[in-house]
Amino acid sequence: MEAVSCTAQWTAAARALESERDDRLFDDPFARTLAGDTGFALLKRYTGAGTVPFLALRTKYLDDQALAAVEHSGARQVVFVAAGMDTRAWRLPWPQDTVIYELDRPALLEAKNAQLVDVPLVAGRRRHAVAVDLAGDWAESLTEAGFRPAEPTVWVMEGLLFFLPEAAVRQVLATLLRLSAPGSVLAGDMASRASLTNPMARGFLTALREDGAAWQFGHDEPEEFLRSCGWHTTKTLQPGEEGASYGRWPYPVIARKIRDIPRSFFFTAVPSTD
Ligand SMILES: C[S@@+](CC[C@H](N)C(=O)[O-])C[C@H]1O[C@@H](n2cnc3c(N)ncnc32)[C@H](O)[C@@H]1O
Repeated sequence: MEAVSCTAQWTAAARALESERDDRLFDDPFARTLAGDTGFALLKRYTGAGTVPFLALRTKYLDDQALAAVEHSGARQVVFVAAGMDTRAWRLPWPQDTVIYELDRPALLEAKNAQLVDVPLVAGRRRHAVAVDLAGDWAESLTEAGFRPAEPTVWVMEGLLFFLPEAAVRQVLATLLRLSAPGSVLAGDMASRASLTNPMARGFLTALREDGAAWQFGHDEPEEFLRSCGWHTTKTLQPGEEGASYGRWPYPVIARKIRDIPRSFFFTAVPSTD
């Protein structure tokens, strides 16, 4: 598996720890298996910068946003863009007839499918694992798997953008937009520019770079950036802010008017009508 895909085992390890807490925000019963020894080793290696509480809040925020978007939009197709070892297809209460697409690298999807081969989906749901390079042209692979661009879609793009150069980030967002019928919703996360050089996270950032999974993209104004890619942001929250705290963020939230701070954003957006 490529280094960048091993980061999916790292985030699965964080989900396993969260799932085993008495006050867990979600329960991912497959996370420990999917993380494997690699995931727990990376959890030690990529320590710092509050990654474990951050990953728990990000998972919970995107669980909630995806379910709410499906309910409000009536969409019955959900696409996980860089799904990694995420198991929302199994663990969330999707409406009957929901079709789920998981986009990621071929080796990762192969490893995941092998681990979950005996775990059935709830009756009435379908899941398609679609092997792609998100930094290339992947729209056709998705449509060939059965995706219908004429129908509204809920897109979840979690833990991807910092691994791509800006041109590829813009291209992914443009492709999502092109495939988004009215009513579609995109939920995801983005790091700020200062996160890429955060001295408090030097160990973590250096280890990622050494492993071949360097962080490359961040932006301080997600609303502005997403607007420039055709998306209108309906919600942007920093972890710890109301709606993205769940009483569990251990750090102060630094106001956005204070510039050049390492921080992350959770966002929800819709295709812009401008
Ligand atoms: C940090 S993991 C996030 C996985 C999952 N969304 C989560 O939060 O647990 C990053 C994921 O991005 C995927 N990824 C990175 N670059 C990619 C690319 N060019 N094409 C497809 N997937 C890519 C990796 O394979 C990996 O699964």
